Amino acid sequence: MEIYCGDLSAELIGKEVTLSGWCRYLRDHGGKLFIDLADITGVSQVVFDGKLLDEAKSLGREYVIRVSGKVKERDKDTVDGKNKTGKFELSAESLIIINKSDTPPFEITDEKEKFLASDEIRLKYRYLDLRRTEMIENIVFRDKVTKEARKFFWDNGFLELETPTLVKDTYETGARPFIVPSRTKKGSFYSLPQSPQIYKQLIMVAGLNKYFQVARAFRDEDQREDRQPEFTQLDFEVSFKDEGYVMSLVEGFIKRIFELINEKIQLPFVRLKYKDAMTKYGSDKPDLRYGYELVDITEIMKKSNYNTVKRVMDSGGKVKAISFSADYGKTKIITKDFMLDIIQIAKVNGLKGLTWLFIEDGKLKSIPDTIASALSSVENDLITAVKAKDGDVIIFGADLDEMLLLKALGKLRKIIGDKTGKFNSKFSFLWVVDFPLFEVDSITKKLSPSHNPFTAPFSEDMRLLDKEPEKVRGRQFDLVLNGNEVGGGAVRINNAELQLKILSMIGMPAEAAMDTFGFLINALKYGAPEDIGFAVGLDRFVAVLKDKQSIRDFILFPKTKSFDSPIDGSPTKIDEKRILEDYKLKRTDE
Ligand code: AMO
Repeated sequence: MEIYCGDLSAELIGKEVTLSGWCRYLRDHGGKLFIDLADITGVSQVVFDGKLLDEAKSLGREYVIRVSGKVKERDKDTVDGKNKTGKFELSAESLIIINKSDTPPFEITDEKEKFLASDEIRLKYRYLDLRRTEMIENIVFRDKVTKEARKFFWDNGFLELETPTLVKDTYETGARPFIVPSRTKKGSFYSLPQSPQIYKQLIMVAGLNKYFQVARAFRDEDQREDRQPEFTQLDFEVSFKDEGYVMSLVEGFIKRIFELINEKIQLPFVRLKYKDAMTKYGSDKPDLRYGYELVDITEIMKKSNYNTVKRVMDSGGKVKAISFSADYGKTKIITKDFMLDIIQIAKVNGLKGLTWLFIEDGKLKSIPDTIASALSSVENDLITAVKAKDGDVIIFGADLDEMLLLKALGKLRKIIGDKTGKFNSKFSFLWVVDFPLFEVDSITKKLSPSHNPFTAPFSEDMRLLDKEPEKVRGRQFDLVLNGNEVGGGAVRINNAELQLKILSMIGMPAEAAMDTFGFLINALKYGAPEDIGFAVGLDRFVAVLKDKQSIRDFILFPKTKSFDSPIDGSPTKIDEKRILEDYKLKRTDE
């Protein structure tokens, strides 16, 4: 039987076992040396004395050793209650030093106060960072979810297929891609796929009707805590099915994952139309663990004497408010300083200003109190409209651009919701549906796809395509978990003519469209079935399940915000001679 450092237990008492691992902590008590020996499964105390003592004293932190000996029960006063093996120890009888270690650049510890390594150093010495229990748990959890995903798709008759990684550049319609120069076709480039989407559509044309893949995707876009330039999708595509099938399939998968983590979820997930999500929550990925709905108070404000917003309303602007339970002034969370920060954030998001009030003894209060006075005639109407009570804070903003106002308040809602932490549930899933097919640039009126240009329009909206394209809805649906977009999918266009039309509407005339997407458009002419697909962002999904802000902690060797890879120092310069000879590429900046 294989025994690991996390396995010492009562059944092994008196038995001879061998452990291999890393010397995490060493405590020299003169006649005895105690070592906490660690591996992926946990930590066990190993005791050296007698003839092994001298050799054991030559060991240092993170040396790799193999020890054999008998498992014993520890003395009562040395039991470590925090460790699952803490009642036992291995009394060493033989020792092999497998390898020495330099002194690690940071302490490999699970105690937050002691772990002082910067992010940069953690990533540079990732193999040491990954020895910490927290990181082991993250990576093991990711493996469990991936394994369950594979089982789930196989159980449901999907084939695991691999799409290419060196693909055609289709920059015109997506995020910026990473490009790879070709050696054999000088001056030409491959691109790394932003997702396997076009290839999985081709797989459907081929008739391989249920595809899935644990797929790597690459996007050269701004980095955030929830984004990496290369990330993994649980990607699938299926023929002859519709949104109902895909949504319940994804729900079935999530149910399996929740069984795995012993958490409950309510099925089916709520479905919210994009328009309602924006109006109620100012976001297409609202966090529904808290309410804090946006309320239109334009009509109420018209009756007030609050000139700041009246001016905006006179020009046709709207006023929207949120109230949130904050125990204002009683907690240390929602303070005047926090509210001043919120006003700043509102400004960064395009609002000219933001008004905030709190409620005390059923009355509006403000700093300065002139605001509350200007609102006194609508005090009750306002409090009732936003459903506020004592201790609550009300914020409102006014703007001529309703969408800008909604989005700005949506961002504040998220910050406030996360800060107050008054969640109704631990996990809140929802589907956002009925997205507009296009985004319209407010100045140039240029159309761009709201997700990607392959999404099918709703058939009942087809009549609007020429005259009012902004009103056309796409058969796109996103999965949102606790305010994070953890997946997205769509019914695809399976008709070459319609595909060409949509591409021309976003500024790609037929020739350009054929140039870039001819390989897809031609395939659509050869009997393309009804086609729908979806991808879960694996890194993001596991990070949100574990309530972690950054997806980096679930990726073995992630990149930094500036796209550097500290583990190997990439990207690096390449010998210019090689680039010139092999690729005929030359630097022109010197
Ligand atoms: P989409 O672009 O929505 O859809 O991507 C699917 C999911 O992938 C995750 N995601 C990311 N995770 C980490 N870093 C990133 N830079 C990043 N970008 C996206 C998100 C997102 O919901 N081809 C379509 C899917 C389909 O329709 O089949 C696609 O790629 O969680």
